[in-house]
Amino acid sequence: MRLKIVAGNWKMNHYINEAEALITETLHSSPQVAHNHLNIFAVPFPYLTMAQNQVKHHEGFALAAQNCSSFEAGAYTGEVSAGMLASIGVSHCLVGHSERRSIFNEKSSELLHKLQLLIKHGITPIWCCGEQLNDRNQMHHFEVVSKQLNDEVFQLNEQDFSRIIIAYEPVWAIGTGLTASPAQAQEMHAFIRSKIASKYHHQVAEQTSILYGGSCNADNAAELFALADVDGGLIGGASLKAASFVKLISIMHELH
Ligand code: PGA
Repeated sequence: MRLKIVAGNWKMNHYINEAEALITETLHSSPQVAHNHLNIFAVPFPYLTMAQNQVKHHEGFALAAQNCSSFEAGAYTGEVSAGMLASIGVSHCLVGHSERRSIFNEKSSELLHKLQLLIKHGITPIWCCGEQLNDRNQMHHFEVVSKQLNDEVFQLNEQDFSRIIIAYEPVWAIGTGLTASPAQAQEMHAFIRSKIASKYHHQVAEQTSILYGGSCNADNAAELFALADVDGGLIGGASLKAASFVKLISIMHELH
């Protein structure tokens, strides 16, 4: 059975006191986590150690960084390496979020380096993909996601690919209040899974968790999380308050 995941991506929000309170409240108010469920906090770098100290006592919760360097080590001022993240116990890391791609101009070759370094250091990448509004309007969304798969995660061998979690996030749905309809989400998730099956193996495709992201919240999550090929969510805005994040965790708990 695939891992079902609710991951909160805080982006560049909250100061330390709010961050600490949000994690404490979430840990204490969430339902008991089932063995095939995982809840993740993707927090800003300065909070990783604080968050790690809280999360390590709670089974079913894990911590993610939001980014890492595409370099291994050395004279790269301002960068944080995958090895450093591993050394403080971080288990997951986002790669290729649309904000990194568009605002920071991250390219496939760089993202592939990040994926390889994270895997080398035993960290699970949460690799993000998704089309822009224009792509969808022109019916190019499958083509765009296919190219992202081919240029990035499909460059990995089967063993390394098996370590990855995928998040499909249509860019037009991120932070906009526009959510993909259940039909749109299921169709793209099934497409991604079929691509994985043809690139690697049917079993690899069956084991890969594919999360949906983009204005997912307590009002629409039940419908999305119930879809056959949707294994959870990567949640931005709705992960910034304990009450709404716990609600999403509870929805997953009730469904699976
Ligand atoms: P959103 O962000 O839930 O605020 O749309 C999702 C994401 O960017 O991961």
